[in-house]
Amino acid sequence: MSRSAHPAGPRHADVLPEGHYAAPPADLNTLDTRVWSRTVTRNADGAAEVGGLDVRALAEEFGTPAYILDEADFRARCRAWRAAFGHGADVFYAGKAFLSRAVVKWLHEEGLNLDVCSGTELAVALDAGMPAERIALHGNNKSTAEIERAVETGVGRIVLDSFQEIARVAAEADRQGKRQRVQIRVTVGVEAHTHEFIATAHEDQKFGLALAGGQAAEAVRRVLKLESLELVGIHSHIGSQIFDMAGFEVAARRVVSLLAEVRDEHGVELPEIDLGGGLGIAYTTDDDPREPQEIAKALGEIVTRECEAARLAVPRLSVEPGRAIVGPTAFTLYEVGTIKPLDGLRTYVSVDGGMSDNIRTALYDAEYSVSLVSRTSDAEPMLSRVVGKHCESGDIVVKDAFLPADLAPGDLLAVPATGAYCRAMASNYNHALRPPVVAVTDGRARVIVRRETEEDLLRLDVG
Ligand code: LLP
Repeated sequence: MSRSAHPAGPRHADVLPEGHYAAPPADLNTLDTRVWSRTVTRNADGAAEVGGLDVRALAEEFGTPAYILDEADFRARCRAWRAAFGHGADVFYAGKAFLSRAVVKWLHEEGLNLDVCSGTELAVALDAGMPAERIALHGNNKSTAEIERAVETGVGRIVLDSFQEIARVAAEADRQGKRQRVQIRVTVGVEAHTHEFIATAHEDQKFGLALAGGQAAEAVRRVLKLESLELVGIHSHIGSQIFDMAGFEVAARRVVSLLAEVRDEHGVELPEIDLGGGLGIAYTTDDDPREPQEIAKALGEIVTRECEAARLAVPRLSVEPGRAIVGPTAFTLYEVGTIKPLDGLRTYVSVDGGMSDNIRTALYDAEYSVSLVSRTSDAEPMLSRVVGKHCESGDIVVKDAFLPADLAPGDLLAVPATGAYCRAMASNYNHALRPPVVAVTDGRARVIVRRETEEDLLRLDVG
């Protein structure tokens, strides 16, 4: 195939990408620190390195596709969140973003708590040695077995999501002769995504008990009457990939007004507020996320101000970042296969993974960036679409991307910021074998989640 035949860019106005890829970047070889994990650089050969290891060597040893996780970056982010919130607050890492035994160990060592949303996430956390009192269990439909296990192992808090659950958790705690610490998850009528938040009508969802209409206040009434439950606070989670703090401000104000109502009605000041997760990260250089320090300061000020206005003692604050901790720490390493130039349109670049290792593009129209990482190139930028190998035309990893026009089969591409909700949401579509997670640090690499094998899949298929 003649490389020079590739169109250097789009010729039809209707295929021009929007946003991040509206124009080619000045230099395709730059690995911008805003989207790549901290220890990523290019070495003298022009190949990318992470944790001191050349991606070509990583591909050789562990195969592709693979998620490469920068352990030093993960730990640094944990420390930054811990330091930003200080001793008067708790940081619960949201395990749904990505959970493994190694991650639990790092969280434990770095002083973070852990939020789990299923019995199996709980099992991983406990197995890896997270003390139960530092775990919170969420979920809108916890099973009896999950509740039983949580109470039995002594999880620090169960976040109650419905009236039925209040009764079920109370009955289980009663049965075990325990007093279970709980929070009540409320819906505050705010939904936030990226730069927007909407402050009406979002009680229309499956999670939580609505503040509007008094469901949340009724839940407090019921919990306070139950001997086997200790109500420690109110929980709210308003959305995902949020950059604008205005949604949190409205949420905090509404949660604090419930705390004031509770004090007035019951003479009880609840000691905790959890404002959930949802803090955004940079998927492309167009995204401009807040630093943990700034977020902690903004949330602390909002809660303090609202409590002072309501004459309440400031409760202990907790947050549950998942994406903001693990998201930026990993990239997916792929090998380029088929390259299909479409004259005047774009070039389809197929990689050896796809929607089975990153469903976010297909599911949420998520934007990612991508770079050639096995070498540098001075070739002109080529408007590309990075697609997977699945039998589905929606199998897109990066919708619009500029890659060098001399891209060839066997080159390695990497998609940064895939640490959150990629391995966690990976599937076996087309019997794809889910890729490994390889942790790198200080010149060492180790598999923390191994690649699935054909035997794994065949073992499940009992015939
Ligand atoms: N706390 C609660 C109660 C949550 O429901 C979530 C996420 C988090 C914390 C963590 O949110 P984070 O800081 O990671 O945004 N699969 C979607 C995201 C779903 C998030 C669900 N809940 C995605 O790939 O964007």
